[in-house]
Order: sequence, then C-alpha cells, then structure tokens
Amino acid sequence: MTAEYKVIGDVAVITLTNPPVNGLGFATRIGITDGLAKANSDQAIKSIVLTGAGKAFSGGADIKEFGTPKALQEPNLLSVILSLEASAKPIVAAMHSVCMGGGLELALGCHYRIAAPGTSVALPEVKLGLIPGAGGTQRLPRVLGVETALNMIVSGEAVKSEVLASLPGQKLFDKLASSPESLMDEAVEFARSVAGKTGDALPLVRNLPCKHPQSDAYFQFAKNMVAGMSKNYPAPLKCVEAVQAATTMKFDAGMVEERRVFTALMFTPESLALRHLFVAERAASKIPDVADDTPQRTIKSVGVIGAGTMGGGISMNFLNAGVPVKILEMKQDALDRGIATIKKNYESQVKKGKLKQDKYDQRMAMLTTTLSYDDLKDCDLIIEAVFEELGVKEAVFKELDRVAKPGAILASNTSTLDVDKIAAFTKRPQDVVGMHFFSPANVMKLLEVVRGKATAKDVLATVMGVAKKIKKTAVVSGVCDGFIGNRMIEQYSRQAGFLIDEGATPQQVDKAVEKFGFAMGPFRMGDLAGNDIGWAIRKRRATERADMKYSRTADKLCELGRFGQKTGAGWYDYQAGKRDAIPSKIVLDMIDQHRKDEGITPRKISDEEIVQRLVYSLVNEGAHILEDGIASKSGDIDMVYLTGYGFPIFRGGPMHYASQVGLFNVSESMKRFAKNPRDDANFWQPAPLIQKLVAEGKSFS
Ligand code: NAI
Repeated sequence: MTAEYKVIGDVAVITLTNPPVNGLGFATRIGITDGLAKANSDQAIKSIVLTGAGKAFSGGADIKEFGTPKALQEPNLLSVILSLEASAKPIVAAMHSVCMGGGLELALGCHYRIAAPGTSVALPEVKLGLIPGAGGTQRLPRVLGVETALNMIVSGEAVKSEVLASLPGQKLFDKLASSPESLMDEAVEFARSVAGKTGDALPLVRNLPCKHPQSDAYFQFAKNMVAGMSKNYPAPLKCVEAVQAATTMKFDAGMVEERRVFTALMFTPESLALRHLFVAERAASKIPDVADDTPQRTIKSVGVIGAGTMGGGISMNFLNAGVPVKILEMKQDALDRGIATIKKNYESQVKKGKLKQDKYDQRMAMLTTTLSYDDLKDCDLIIEAVFEELGVKEAVFKELDRVAKPGAILASNTSTLDVDKIAAFTKRPQDVVGMHFFSPANVMKLLEVVRGKATAKDVLATVMGVAKKIKKTAVVSGVCDGFIGNRMIEQYSRQAGFLIDEGATPQQVDKAVEKFGFAMGPFRMGDLAGNDIGWAIRKRRATERADMKYSRTADKLCELGRFGQKTGAGWYDYQAGKRDAIPSKIVLDMIDQHRKDEGITPRKISDEEIVQRLVYSLVNEGAHILEDGIASKSGDIDMVYLTGYGFPIFRGGPMHYASQVGLFNVSESMKRFAKNPRDDANFWQPAPLIQKLVAEGKSFS
C-alpha cells in the first residue's frame, strides 16, 4: 500500500506515499479507500485531511498503468473520487508542490481544499492526447468558471495556486495557506473547523452550477481557435466539447460523456504516440548498465575548442544555464568572429523581448576567451568543435591530454569520426566521450552522447546530468559511422535520390513527407543544411563502401554549384533574402537529362510509396542499429528522430510508427521494394530483428 494513515487528535490524515510524484496507481488508490473506511468507522475521528508526501500532492494517474487493465481495476480513480464525495465526515485536500491530472481530480472530489502557495495546478492530459478522465472537465469549470478552466484543460499548462486563488469568484480553494511549511497545521485546523458537518451540509463541487453567459458564441469561438491550432491532434477539440457538455448536461450525464470521449481518445494513434514519447523521453536518460545513483563529476566550468558554428551554439547552452565558458581558438580573429556571432544571437533575442538586458549582460560576463591551452587547466568539461578532420582532432586532444586536470571530461562534437580513435590520442580514454550536438546547437533539443569503448560510467552519468542541466534530450549511442541519427538519415537520403531517378520530383517527395507530418522534406532539408555535406560523404563512401548504391542526381546538382540556400540555389531556386523554395526549371531539366543518360523511363510514383520508402528505410536501419547494440532501445531511436530530425510527434518516431503499422506489413513492403531493380535489394532485406519480431508476432515496443 502506498498511502499512510495517521491520527492527529480527532483528525485523520491520509498521506499518499508513492514517490516520486504520488502517482495514483492501484496500491495508492487502495491506500486512500482503506484510510477513508478506517476514518469513517472510528468514532473518535471527526474530519479527514488528504495530502501527499514529498515533492507532490499528486502528479496524477500512474502512466505505467495507462491502457492496461490495472488502471480500471477497482477501486479505479473514478470510484475513489466517488467514495471521497460519499464520506460522512468532511475531507480537506491539503495541496502542495504539484497537483496535476488525476491528483487535481482527486482534490476536486474532496469537500474542501486548501493549497500551499507555489502549488502547480494543471490538467495536462491533453499533452498525452487525452482529456481528463476522472471528472476534470466537469468539475474544474464549476470552481474556476468555464473560460479559465477551458484554457487550462486545452493547454495542459500549470497555473500557480496563488494566481488561481486571486481570481474573483473562484471556488477551487477554500483557503490559501500562508506558507508551504504551515500547510499541514492549517489544513488540520481547517478540518477541525468543519468537523461535525455531514450529509447535505458537506459541499460537493458536482452540485455547483456550470454556466457561461454567451455559451453558444463562446464555444463556437473556442472550437474555431482550437481547431486552427491543433491540426493532427484530436484531443484539444475534444476538451472543448467535454467542457461544453459540463454546461449543457446534468453532472452525471456529463461524466458519462467525458468517460466516453476519454476512452475513445485512449486508442487514437496520436495519444499512443504522445504517451510513447512521454515514456521514451524518461527512459532515454537511463543507461542499462549505468546505475541511477552512479556518482557524477562536478561540472562548474566548461571549455570549448573552436568558436565556429557549433562551438558558439554549444557555448550558449552553458551560458544560458549559468555555467562559465572559456572558448579557445587558434587565432584572435576567429575568436572575435565567434564572439560576435554569439552576441548577435543574444541581441536578437533581446530585441524580440525574449531575453532581458541584464540576463544578457550576465551571460556575456561568464564568457571568456583564450588562445592558449594552458588556460583550460581548471575546466571540468572541455568540448571540442574544430574542423571535422581526424588530424586536427588528434592535435587538439593531445593538447587537452597535456593540460586538462585529472578527472576533467574531454568531449568531441564530431558528427562522423570514430570516438574510440579520438580517445586513443589521449592517455585517459576513460574520460573521453562524444557529445554530438545538432545545429543550431543553442536551439536543437537533441544531444547524442557517444559512448566509446573505454568511456567510464561516471563520465556517462555526468554527461547525462549535464544534458539535463542545459535542457537537452540526451540519447546514448555507441560508436559507428553517423551514430544513430545520421546513420539512419543516410538511408533515407538514398531513397530520396532513387525516387527522383525513378520519376518523382523534389517537390512531390517533399510534399508527400510533409503531408505525413515531417517538418521538412529531404530536398528542402538538403537545401537548408547544404547539399555539399552529403556530397563530401558520398565521395568518401565511394572508396570506403563501394557496395553502397547511390543516385547520382545529387552529385550533379552539386557539380552545378547548387549547394542550397547559402548559394541561393539548390534543389529549388531562392530569391535573395527569402527562404521560400521555388521549383526550379534548371533542376527539373537536369533530372530529366540524368534519367535519359541512365536509360530510365520515368514512372508515376504514388505519395504512399514515397512515404513508405523513406520512413521504412529509417526503420530498417534503426533495426540494424538495435541489433548492433548502437542504441539500447527502440524508444531511444524514436527520441533521436522526434527531437533532432523533425519526425512528426503525433506519429511517435519511426520505430513506434512501424510497430503501429505492424511489423508484418512493414516487412512485406520492404520485400516488395527489394524487387525494384532501381533500388537497393540488399538494403531492403528486412533486418533479422524485424524478421524475428514478425515471427514472434511482436513489435519493437
Ligand atoms: P566551423 O568550421 O564552423 O568551426 C570550426 C572552428 O574550429 C573554426 O572557428 C576554426 O577556426 C576552429 N578550429 C579549427 N582548428 C582548430 C584548432 N586546432 N584549435 C582551435 N580551433 C580550431 O565548423 P562547425 O560546423 O562548427 O563544426 C565543428 C565540429 O562540429 C565538426 O567536428 C563537425 O563535424 C561537428 N558538427 C557540425 C554540425 C553542423 O551542422 N555544422 C552538426 C554537428 C556536429
């Protein structure tokens, strides 16, 4: 049981004790109903306080139980709330810290509520593609008014208790405690003040009226607004409908309606994807063989080598988090240029009102520069972001090995080079790790943490902690060419090339995957990142991996000097100063000519085939990555694609998506693609892991 029962004089106190956030799993629910029964049968008890231990009143439903029979097992949350309402003795919810989702619904079932200042109050179910399912949509409007409640339910955002308490006419809180420390004393005192009330004298939220003065017009307006803002996501609109039901139906009928909608949403692909993301995000920070309590090294100062595109962005992450940074370059003018770029970035934030001037000043004051390695001797973490050449990395890491203090972590931002080779340039390979940021490094959420064969566990634990501090989503990758993300994207790009050869246009390919939900199709993406990057990789591949088949179209594009936006022309034309991709006659003619040269008769390719070949290429390579142990779980691969490559969130990442489509279907499509003579038959053999899962009737999850 994960709830505690104790008696303070004539008041029973039921305390949820299910860390970290007192999730309302089965054992906790039993704890509440048992405590309630005990208090109600004890003559000496006159009233009851319900609260949570530790860092939360309650963070809500136990997400691990979602969609499982456990969530419905009696007493389920709805029954628990009904038993609170039915208690013959008054119940006071003592809310503090975090009171969200099912936790707030629980409090709304109590007769009275007292909150500590600073309590975060929210119904965040919409973020999981759901609506609140235990009365939240019916009770919250009754205590906060329709508009405030609807805003909270549709956005899922938390509002502080003191803000809610100051709203005129609010009935959410009977009292705001004077401080978090005095909450329990005040709650017990409040409970005593209502002792003896029973039956109809006990107030219930369900009995309050729920009306809006211009109901029809308001809800029409709300639906229009929400529909416009939430395409691809059904839940927000359902939130509006459920709150509307609270204003048009009797309470019990509204509850039935809420449950009906909640249950239907539970099985939508969008909710499944969002819940997968929620779980995968938390799981990504856990490394199978590195214990949660592995001691972390202290990181109080950071050195960055190279003030270029990546070095500047990386530095900003640490400055934003209040960690001093020292940047090293070879020449003063490179330093000056780098610092000027950082300043420009911050200044544009100040101009847009996103950053206060004093914060900007503080950040710049934490930034220092040097031309001498000796100045890095006190840094706890040093991140290298110099040119992508092994020889240059060698020189840098030898210098770092010479000057860095013992225990300092030496990280490389390399995107393609072998981290084990880099580690071997030092006499301390255990302290070397890859920290692969994505461009722009101050914006992109993803950080691939590349684990070398010698990387120490406490180094990994520390880097994962650092990632959290600088608000990145860190995913651990083993050492291989391209790590997780770029190794997969190479297959995706290859498919994009074949599709063009076979008859699609860049516009058609981009449109098809953008309709699927990608932020940007492969050709617009190439134009943004620079087509010369892929060109360089393909040239390298020609010697390293002669077995790998490529379309030659992209090379021809580069031979025309069309590197993308930076040269004003790529797969598309661009007007000066604008980013709109304009279909290019030159490119279409070039593609035509290329097909003639290769003897290809173009065919009509469906959008469905485009999406399947691009997405399943990610899936097949992702499966190989799992087989090779480069990623430890399929959710990690999904996190890489959701946070670093613009994969549509509502589809949950390539591996989750494939599991939803069904691996049997996916593998049958792969076998079909293997028969296409213009494609790569070897690549399209379903990965052994996929074959095994299909044979066992399983999915990646
Ligand atoms: P960049 O060319 O913009 O910057 C490199 C900087 O390093 C230059 O300012 C240069 O003066 C400096 N530098 C070169 N040799 C040096 C040395 N021996 N000592 C000190 N400074 C030196 O390059 P960028 O794009 O910032 O890339 C840096 C690293 O980050 C590369 O390893 C690259 O593969 C990786 N990377 C790049 C991404 C991108 O999108 N640009 C994304 C992820 C990783």
